[in-house]
Amino acid sequence: MTDFERKSVQSGAADSGMAGAAAARSVDLDSFRDALGRFVSGITVVTTRSADGVDHAMTANAFTSVSVDPFLVLVCVEKIARFHEAVLQSGRWAVSVLGENAIEASNWFATRGRPLEGQLSGFPFTRGEETGAVLLVDALATMECRTIGIYDGGDHDIVVGEVLSVAAPRPDDRPLVYFRGKYHILGDAT
Ligand SMILES: Cc1cc2nc3c(=O)[nH]c(=O)nc-3n(C[C@H](O)[C@H](O)[C@H](O)COP(=O)(O)O)c2cc1C
Repeated sequence: MTDFERKSVQSGAADSGMAGAAAARSVDLDSFRDALGRFVSGITVVTTRSADGVDHAMTANAFTSVSVDPFLVLVCVEKIARFHEAVLQSGRWAVSVLGENAIEASNWFATRGRPLEGQLSGFPFTRGEETGAVLLVDALATMECRTIGIYDGGDHDIVVGEVLSVAAPRPDDRPLVYFRGKYHILGDAT
């Protein structure tokens, strides 16, 4: 059993019943995607292990730190993704932050409907001691998390986790970043 509560967050737009309709008129999907695509993000692979021992993994860039007291992070998980049910049930998950050598991993773990069996072959990994979840050996950084809250976020759920362990397997690799729908490898600081 998991020990978190599911929480619902209502936006002002949803509350009023009017602002949402106004937003629907002034923001179309392409404009929304275009604007959000100009926000640079890192890329992660989030993982969890179900009670019957099946490994789930999913590329996710909707990941961010939340708090240092306590140590909290969040990831937004689409409700129709297979990872969604798996992470809600397990309540324990891990994050691998991708570096310059991980474009293939990012593409693969973003491929809808790929077979779960054998999906990790070719991607060296260890297992986290706290969660049993997969940690990619080629990651810049990894962390293990325990879910402490789930918030409704439209077609995604916002999964907030307390960080139980951290590691930096390849700390000096350059990060893989996502910008306007394409991969980039971050260069030197100015
Ligand atoms: C760069 C990139 C970032 C992504 N970020 C997210 C994310 O943050 N949350 C999410 O639910 N899906 C995200 N996706 C999509 C999922 O990776 C994809 O839908 C999922 O792997 C489908 O797996 P399934 O067939 O097991 O449901 C992203 C895809 C890409 C290419």
